[in-house]
Amino acid sequence: MKLSPRLALIPLIVAVALLGAGVATLLTRQTPAPPPPQTSLIGGPFTMTADDGRSVTDRDFKGHPFLVYFGYTHCPDVCPTALLDISQVLKALGPDAKIKVLFVTVDPARDTPKIMKAYLANFDPRIVGLSGTEAQTKAIEHVYRAYAKKVPGKNGDYTMDHTAIFYLMDKEGRFVSTFRTDRPVKAGASELQEYL
Ligand code: NI
Repeated sequence: MKLSPRLALIPLIVAVALLGAGVATLLTRQTPAPPPPQTSLIGGPFTMTADDGRSVTDRDFKGHPFLVYFGYTHCPDVCPTALLDISQVLKALGPDAKIKVLFVTVDPARDTPKIMKAYLANFDPRIVGLSGTEAQTKAIEHVYRAYAKKVPGKNGDYTMDHTAIFYLMDKEGRFVSTFRTDRPVKAGASELQEYL
């Protein structure tokens, strides 16, 4: 049997391709995989004042999962909606579920612990209001990579543009993922159940 010159080249092309693949594999194996990050870019130390007036840090919330949400009590719609949504999820988890939601104000000038407490009385009792000085607020926004900006309105009034997501943190205080509330309450509750 005699192959045409073109067909005779095929085994050679295949051999070269295989050799190339082999070399590529060797090169890949010799390149060490990057080490997994030791810490997440989201979350970390903070010191704030809880709505009962006590000073709290991130360490106070370790041992149980918690969610973190940045907002403010004068928020016209986004924050109340988010707090109602998460209250529904907490209710679905049942009263014994050990999980907290930290509602961190991005408006410390107006949101004192007392105002936070009164406001949060409308929602699930596992939602804790955290407020702080300007510097403490900036620091916690920074560790959570949260955004907040004052938007001037009429007569010296203002609103706050802010990140509107729930950060889910595990028992160790490590960031897991953002937590979605735009889905059936039961779906959210069963996701949280995994971290209890
Ligand atoms: Ni808001």
